[in-house]
Amino acid sequence: LRVLLLNGPNLNMLGQREPQIYGAATLEQIVGDLRQHASTLNVELTHLQSNAEHELVTAIQQALGKQDFILINPGAFTHTSIAIRDALLAVAIPFIEIHLSNVHAREAFRKHSYLSDIAKGVICGLGANGYRYALESAVSTLTTKNI
Ligand code: DQA
Repeated sequence: LRVLLLNGPNLNMLGQREPQIYGAATLEQIVGDLRQHASTLNVELTHLQSNAEHELVTAIQQALGKQDFILINPGAFTHTSIAIRDALLAVAIPFIEIHLSNVHAREAFRKHSYLSDIAKGVICGLGANGYRYALESAVSTLTTKNI
């Protein structure tokens, strides 16, 4: 199974960035743990973090025919990006939207996502564990027929 992990803007700052909201773990630690977990699940995990919308759009486009599932924490692009939505619709690869924080318990503008209604599922507020749950869910979706 091939899974593409995408992290959007400012997630490269995890560890130093508002740790009371996003936790103490760095992105390197989160992705390192996820890679380890992925290998036990027989998943080939590819990761990209970018602060640039066009790089995320291009990565989604290039996933066509190469990836079975996408896990994406779009950061603030969640609340702004029709382009990322359209890219995900264009490739039609199932995806899970992940947020470390509970976006529903924060500013009103974080309640709206351009992606949630087309996602397989959404995980928010569970911190770095959310990535692990999303990976496990992707694997069970891909290995069982009852999706
Ligand atoms: C986030 C939530 C977004 O609202 C915010 O812009 C982020 C991170 C999260 O993981 O909780 O950058 O996606």
